[in-house]
Amino acid sequence: MTNDNNFYGLLAEFEDPTALCKGAERVRDAGYKHWDCHSPFPVHGLDDCMGVKFTRLPWIVLTMGLIGLFSGIALQWWTNAVDYPYDISGKPVWSLPANIPVIFEVTVLFSAFTAFFAMWGINGLPRWYHPLLRKKSFAKATDDGFFISIEAKDPSFALERTGDFLNTIGAKRVEEVREADEPTNLPGNIKAKLWITAGVMLIPVGMVYQTWDSTTTEPRVHLVKDMDKQDRFRSQGETSMFADGRMSRPQIEGTVAEGQFFEDMSFVTGKDGGNYVTAMPASITVDEKFLAEGKKNFDIFCGLCHGANGAGNSKIHERAMMLAAQGEAIWVQPTDLTGVRIMDMADGQIFETISNGLNTMPAYAAQISTEERWAIIAYMRALQEEYGDAGPSADELAKMTPVERGDLVFNQQGCMACHTTNGTPLVGPTFKGYVGSDIKLTTGETVKGDLAYLTESLRDPLAKTREGSIPGAMVAYPNITDEQISDLFEYLSTLK
Ligand code: HEC
Ligand code: HEC
Repeated sequence: MTNDNNFYGLLAEFEDPTALCKGAERVRDAGYKHWDCHSPFPVHGLDDCMGVKFTRLPWIVLTMGLIGLFSGIALQWWTNAVDYPYDISGKPVWSLPANIPVIFEVTVLFSAFTAFFAMWGINGLPRWYHPLLRKKSFAKATDDGFFISIEAKDPSFALERTGDFLNTIGAKRVEEVREADEPTNLPGNIKAKLWITAGVMLIPVGMVYQTWDSTTTEPRVHLVKDMDKQDRFRSQGETSMFADGRMSRPQIEGTVAEGQFFEDMSFVTGKDGGNYVTAMPASITVDEKFLAEGKKNFDIFCGLCHGANGAGNSKIHERAMMLAAQGEAIWVQPTDLTGVRIMDMADGQIFETISNGLNTMPAYAAQISTEERWAIIAYMRALQEEYGDAGPSADELAKMTPVERGDLVFNQQGCMACHTTNGTPLVGPTFKGYVGSDIKLTTGETVKGDLAYLTESLRDPLAKTREGSIPGAMVAYPNITDEQISDLFEYLSTLK
């Protein structure tokens, strides 16, 4: 140790890499800590001679990489599963595989930044100046000079002893190195210039901020004109060109939009003279290709709710029922498309349901083309042939009791999607104890649960609404016959 604050240390030059290595071994064994070797090229084995330990950078990178990994997991778990859980088709809000890409990215990000900045930090960078660079002779370290430098701050350092020691270990020449004597301040008025430059650089930022924060009626600076500024008529504007002063012209009577003319209106509306068509429009041929097209779109648009086979059991349904049980949703089971009711339903009515939707079922006219909608119906009919059950024959029905037949109607028509028989309310009221009970309506009147009211409820569900229920949630059942209704009534009467 010396007391000279400006004294940096000693610099010894060696003949060749071998001498350097030998010297380094001696310095290492002498117990010096603050010293280094300098050579124009990497010298193999020098690390061992110096006793340099393997860098600890990989451990730092590993640690930060792991922190990145867990931050990535925590970030996504917190945002997706805790702070803002978002239900997508009943999928779990938190699942590792889906989140791996982001976790991977965050891990790489943390590792890469750590490797970069820790390398700088460990090496004491950035550094503007080093005392060794003041030595002319040290320039040889970039060409053919091999050096060992020992710093004065080393506890074992003593000027004379260390100098002698360096000579004994084979140094060609030993020099003293001092820090700069002159002040280390930045030269001249460079600071002032930097301040002025920084100030000038703020001007464009200020201009952007000013325009951002103010309004103007001047047109904006428009360097490339393109078609932004050409004379044109605005649809709701005024003009002196036409007598009525309006720019928009009314449509000429009988105008048909391009590609929108259909000879067969039932193809577009599913109706013929106000009634639903019962068969496919004449322009359609149902063949294998058409059915395949129908299946494709059924799987894309319908299967998710109605189930792949149309039976009305799907993940969405399960999930919605779960939410409904918690009181967080009102849900009607997607109709069993292979049930008797839809088997008996006219093609035109199904077409209308697909086009315009029904209660919680969305409308698909915008997403599915007209022809594709018919193809879906053709495929539904195929599903019905495969999985549908038309039920007992007329003979068999005749042998059954009215109560049995009523039970059958109840199931075939899908009443249980909204009504239970055991007392729990669903979307609609339960039928337990329904027959003969007093029903309070939204109008304040009271009606009896009798055959007449059952009939009215099925034919025209909107006519009367029970207090506290959702009006319009129940669809009409025009196809149920009066006999079936009376059987149904017998069946409902048994539910005490
Ligand atoms: C978001 C879920 C959902 C999707 C998707 C969906 N449906 Fe539905 N669908 C329902 C529900 C719920 C009902 C029962 C509505 C009711 O009675 O209140 C229903 C009812 C129906 C009915 C019976 C209509 C009636 O008059 O009772 C038909 C037919 C039907 N869907 C066909 C389709 C077809 C074909 C597709 C594909 C284009 C489709 N649905 C897509 C939920 C869906
Ligand atoms: C899509 C759900 C749904 C289906 C399917 C459904 N209903 Fe309903 N039903 C309701 C709702 C909701 C109400 C209550 C609203 C109202 O009174 O109009 C209701 C009311 C009724 C009422 C009047 C009860 C009262 O207390 O006011 C009767 C009767 C009835 N349904 C019978 C049936 C029968 C029979 C079937 C099967 C053929 C059936 N419903 C299918 C939803 C449904």
